[in-house]
Amino acid sequence: MHRAVCPGSFDPVTNGHLDIVGRASKIFDEVVVAVGVNQSKNRLFDAEERISMLREACEEFPNVRVDGFTGLLTDFCRSNDIQAIVKGLRAVSDFDYELQMAQMNASLAPIETVFVPTSPEYSFLASSLVKEVATYGGDVSALVPGFVLERLTARLAERAAAPA
Ligand code: PNS
Repeated sequence: MHRAVCPGSFDPVTNGHLDIVGRASKIFDEVVVAVGVNQSKNRLFDAEERISMLREACEEFPNVRVDGFTGLLTDFCRSNDIQAIVKGLRAVSDFDYELQMAQMNASLAPIETVFVPTSPEYSFLASSLVKEVATYGGDVSALVPGFVLERLTARLAERAAAPA
């Protein structure tokens, strides 16, 4: 059984993430989408919300499951018998940091990182930009699944209505 992990923050999941997950699911027997729930970043969606959106988005992939993880990704890989980390590369600018993480992870555990080039139509896509564009009323409907767009729009409206 060849099992891989697609790790990330997924705040929220985008069509770019799903492109990588779907392609990974054709290469590996099983793919675990692992949502990092470390407390370090300010998130728009909490861990349960991010996991729930991913589960819905990944329903179309029969060999993909979604889980959360805390701590080191390599520890999650060990405890789930995962041999490979799959990362999407959007541009050369992603490569430096991703290479550094791949090498650090390889120094911690016998785990390969497999880089998958992002499909050209998603090469500019990042959750942070989706949130920023949506915050100012831009159209992100082609960039995230429909149900994610609904939750994003609702959450941004809640935030906008909340007292500062
Ligand atoms: O979507 P992101 O924010 O780029 O995802 C980053 C993530 C969650 C994949 C990365 O921060 C991670 O692996 N965190 C777990 C902690 C860890 O293992 N750190 C060492 C990385 S070399």
